[in-house]
Amino acid sequence: MPAVVVIGGQWGDEGKGRVVDFHSQYCSVIARYSAGNNAGHTVINDRGTFALRLVPAGIFYDDKDCVIGNGCAINPIALWEEIEGLKARGVSAERLHISDRAHVVMPWHPLIDAADERLRGPFAIGTTGRGIGPAFVDKAGRAGIRMCDLIDGAGFRERLRIILEYKNAVLEKLYGLEPLSFDAVYNEYREAGERLLPYVTDTSLLVQEALDRGDEVLLEGAQGALLDLDFGTYEFVTSSVPSSTAAGAAVGVGIGPNRINRVAGVYKAYTTRVGNGPMPTELFDEEGERLRNVGREYGTVTGRPRRCGWFDAVAARFTARLNGVTSAVVTRLDVLDAFPVIRVCTAYQVDGAELRSFPANTTVLARCTPVYEDFPGWETPTSDVRRFADLPANAQAYLRRLGELLGAPVDIISVGPERDQCIQVRPVV
Ligand code: IMP
Repeated sequence: MPAVVVIGGQWGDEGKGRVVDFHSQYCSVIARYSAGNNAGHTVINDRGTFALRLVPAGIFYDDKDCVIGNGCAINPIALWEEIEGLKARGVSAERLHISDRAHVVMPWHPLIDAADERLRGPFAIGTTGRGIGPAFVDKAGRAGIRMCDLIDGAGFRERLRIILEYKNAVLEKLYGLEPLSFDAVYNEYREAGERLLPYVTDTSLLVQEALDRGDEVLLEGAQGALLDLDFGTYEFVTSSVPSSTAAGAAVGVGIGPNRINRVAGVYKAYTTRVGNGPMPTELFDEEGERLRNVGREYGTVTGRPRRCGWFDAVAARFTARLNGVTSAVVTRLDVLDAFPVIRVCTAYQVDGAELRSFPANTTVLARCTPVYEDFPGWETPTSDVRRFADLPANAQAYLRRLGELLGAPVDIISVGPERDQCIQVRPVV
């Protein structure tokens, strides 16, 4: 059975966690393929409300294998806390598997993340501060430590000694920071490695074997395509290597691209963004405030208020195309329930011309003003609706138009945070 990828089609926080939680019931393996604990997936199900960082959202099913793939950057201290937090609430991590090739977020990475942000001043990215960018810089710069190194006893000691000498020089000479103590880092990370050792394995083999058996495998994306290093609003993007787009999924878990045949693109019914960088449909008025309040739009990882605005179909069509989205999932439709008019940006106006494609240059994007198509709101609660045909006619019209603009059918609609608050038009898995 080929694999299905779930990606975020906007700037992250689209509700991928709830989509993965819902679809995990049909899969035997759920694998994260990129990013680290900068990602935050909120899942609300019969076991409670959970804010996941690194652990795949399939963890709530005891009979599923959950994989943190080689494309992820793992902070072993934070991961252990997450595992312990889940265990304390009765969620078993027994079937969690961590790739031996995944890179480790070391203590210098958050320090460099914060220092870089300070040095950038007005050009700061607005990162989550978790050190994920610097960890991926080290991955590409061949100065990383991987999970297989962390659990390698004497090998870890030797590798840390060499790398820390170099990193301490960078911390002191470049950033004017205090050097890190070898013993403190070694002891803390050796212990973390020992705790995680039972989970570490060649996860690419595990995923391939599941595919060979004909099992359903779900590849869980993190962040959103507009935060992707290649296609996002560079430089206001995340540094994940491989890409956070669907194409990154094969590399990020170690399977061939021909093993993937479906891509579910998750889109909020409006747009949000955290961190800096252009966002053409951002609202600075009371409607933006209302979206934030009704949608409780505050970051899962940092608690920062999210920037809110109307659905940007120029950006969304772009990400649907570059991810090869076969099914669109529209989340948080219920947040729009009380709005009398709902707007969708279908083009940008820039420098006297109309633009229908998403520009590469962020300074051009920052000058874009949205051209809106207006829809009458439905002004009726939708949270209890479970069939498309039972949605108010205006909500149906809105969703049909989103599907047209995206160039992909809207197959799933979420109308509330609970697992069952979902309308399935056509199964994705
Ligand atoms: P970093 O990934 O911490 O380096 O942050 C880079 C950019 O990506 C910032 O704008 C962050 O706010 C954003 N970002 C990173 N992870 C997430 C996420 O899970 N949801 C939304 N935005 C994110």
